[in-house]
Amino acid sequence: MSGAHSHTICAIPGDGIGREVVPAAVEALQRVAPGLRVEWAEAGYETWRRTGDALPARTLSLARDADATLFGAVSSPLEPTPGYQSAILSLRRMLDLYACVRPIQSLPTGTPLADLIIVRENTEGLYGGGEESDGETAVARRVITRAASRRIARLAFDMARRLRRRRVTIVHKATVLPKTDGLFRAAAFDVARDYPEIAVDEALVDSAAMRLAGQPESFDMIVTTNLFGDILSDVAAVHGGGLGLAPSANIGDRAALFEPVHGSAPDIAGRGVANPLAAILAGAMLLDHIGRAAAARALRDAIAATVAGPVRTPDLGGAATTDEVTEAVIGNLPMTDLPATRGLGWQTIPTAAG
Ligand code: NAI
Ligand code: MG
Repeated sequence: MSGAHSHTICAIPGDGIGREVVPAAVEALQRVAPGLRVEWAEAGYETWRRTGDALPARTLSLARDADATLFGAVSSPLEPTPGYQSAILSLRRMLDLYACVRPIQSLPTGTPLADLIIVRENTEGLYGGGEESDGETAVARRVITRAASRRIARLAFDMARRLRRRRVTIVHKATVLPKTDGLFRAAAFDVARDYPEIAVDEALVDSAAMRLAGQPESFDMIVTTNLFGDILSDVAAVHGGGLGLAPSANIGDRAALFEPVHGSAPDIAGRGVANPLAAILAGAMLLDHIGRAAAARALRDAIAATVAGPVRTPDLGGAATTDEVTEAVIGNLPMTDLPATRGLGWQTIPTAAG
């Protein structure tokens, strides 16, 4: 029975090109992981305009109950809009998705060859403490707790173990911030003791930024606090081939949400030319998360083969459509996996009956 255990994912296309790239990613996921059960759900600006609720209760409960959620993007209006709240921000808070995870992998042709994962604490630090100002002096509180530092380090080292990464670098500035970053550093090194097979080292955030820009290959995984992780993720993203290829994950202890880094791209939405690869790569991260590592690897290999070939969307210098790129990825999947697992999933039951 356990061999045929089927996972349920919640798919939230959202707005704009989210509605183009999430269906593409779901199609690729269902090919590489037959039996995956998909619950579709609504969220975002268009949902808010139609229903007055950017994150309907049904969507929240499906995301909470699913093994993982695949999210596209949602739009935020430019003008102040009373009552509107970004669905992605609500989901992160309501599902306590305390870790923001960004893998950065350069194109096979790229130099330098980056292949690293940044794990960023997403609930406290300089973004979680609030600000005060009397008009002349403004103060932001930077809150670091042992509990949040331990849980982000635990998540990073567990991920390193599952993904067979060799080293985790703890990034901080404990030289200047001995109380806050001293606590983060000590908590992270303490957790590292439970993972003797994974090397651990540390770097100060400023020199880490310089190394990330010039020698990204010198990092395997990074774990760091909220603000530092925010900045370092974007520094590292330079090596990743652009928004069309950048996936991310938001992970908590009871829920996980995977999404492309990009937004709803209203400038190209509705034309069928959005690059689906970032969403499909987010799908590969999702497969890793639910324990389907072989399927994740097959999907990544198929994406790499596609990027190396001629079928690319305009953002990667090609002239192909979203659908053509998705078909190319599916065409690059190994044939052997498909018949072996086809027929195990509930989705094939109607076909078998007919
Ligand atoms: P964006 O990422 O949507 O677009 C930036 C530029 O990159 C645009 O020129 C777009 O055409 C291009 N681009 C993005 N993804 C692409 C893809 N897959 N293929 C080809 N080209 C792609 O960022 P922008 O324009 O700042 O924001 C647009 C909307 O998205 C805003 O309403 C913003 O609030 C929202 N947004 C939502 C996010 C989320 O839901 N997590 C994240 C970032 C932005
Ligand atoms: Mg996104």
